[in-house]
Amino acid sequence: MDVLVTGATGFLGRRVVRELLDRGHRVRALVHTPGREALLPPGSVTVHQGSVSQPESLAAACWGVDAVVHLVAIIRRSKGASFDDVNRQGTANVVAAAKAAGGVQKLVHVSVIGAADNPALPYLQSKWQGEQAVVNSGVPYTILRPSLLFGEGDEFLNTLAGLVRVLPVVPVVGSGRNQFQPIAAEDLAKCVALALERPALNGQTIEIGGPQQISYLELLRLVARTLEKRRWRAHLPVWLMRLNVALLEKVQPRPPVTTEQLRLLPVRNVALLDSVERAFGFTPRPLEGNIDYIRSVGFGDGLRITLGFMPSRIRDH
Ligand SMILES: NC(=O)c1ccc[n+]([C@@H]2O[C@H](COP(=O)([O-])OP(=O)(O)OC[C@H]3O[C@@H](n4cnc5c(N)ncnc54)[C@H](OP(=O)(O)O)[C@@H]3O)[C@@H](O)[C@H]2O)c1
Repeated sequence: MDVLVTGATGFLGRRVVRELLDRGHRVRALVHTPGREALLPPGSVTVHQGSVSQPESLAAACWGVDAVVHLVAIIRRSKGASFDDVNRQGTANVVAAAKAAGGVQKLVHVSVIGAADNPALPYLQSKWQGEQAVVNSGVPYTILRPSLLFGEGDEFLNTLAGLVRVLPVVPVVGSGRNQFQPIAAEDLAKCVALALERPALNGQTIEIGGPQQISYLELLRLVARTLEKRRWRAHLPVWLMRLNVALLEKVQPRPPVTTEQLRLLPVRNVALLDSVERAFGFTPRPLEGNIDYIRSVGFGDGLRITLGFMPSRIRDH
């Protein structure tokens, strides 16, 4: 198939591009920031420069493809881009361009567990609104709602590793018992490709996660064990953490955690334990034994992460 991948240069997008190429598809990549195409396999991908906020760039990118995999989203607001601009309107623009192109027979859209029409959670609401654009498009679709992603270059575990390297006492928001079901980005990429190829999955919205449900506290312990560090933990009340984070957001370019991420902590972030087996017929890899990449986060990296400068060396895998 000829497939357009939006968000192709992102953490998940790079894995999806590789998976699609390995399975014999021809890939067209929508590249947002000029130069980031260097992160894609050289010579194997057709690059279209564009933005989900520029419908004319999407028309050109969608022209002549059989399917669109839509991965663009932001979880951090910036001056130029709100959740509404990118996650809702941007998705609506991609859907409109896919329909107008005429030949698109399948849309695969990656959303997130917890997406809901709830104005108190702007990120999740914008992701829900993006889903609605896909559901109402009239184009056959599959929506995947993953839990937390892990893999070389991830933000969550690398940030935790940075904090564990540098801080003798690591902050925990509230009880730390909130559950996640992390799934490897490579495994989600495989699910995306299978969703594209299997018409039986058309019209479905599928929540997926890895083989284990794990609390924030247990994740922190696993990271510390992997780095061979022993750390104390300080349980901070949510209001105090909110205050700290609001201050960090004023002074740091990329704080290790944002107000929006704090809002998401209490939201249920788990799927069925066998969600991937049921929908896609394979067993996803566990966290344990697959996060050695965090060992490359040294003390200097940890300091930069804690001060709000995620090193691109760590992100761009
Ligand atoms: N990471 C997770 O733990 C996680 C968990 C659940 C769901 N998801 C979902 O998975 C999908 C992929 O996430 P990710 O972690 O791979 O994110 P990511 O690494 O931040 O990648 C986002 C991609 O979107 C591109 N992009 C941003 N704004 C754009 C715009 N206006 N026009 C066109 N492209 C734009 C980025 O390009 P530039 O860098 O050049 O701007 C980048 O290629 C998202 O839909 C996300 O909601 C992620």
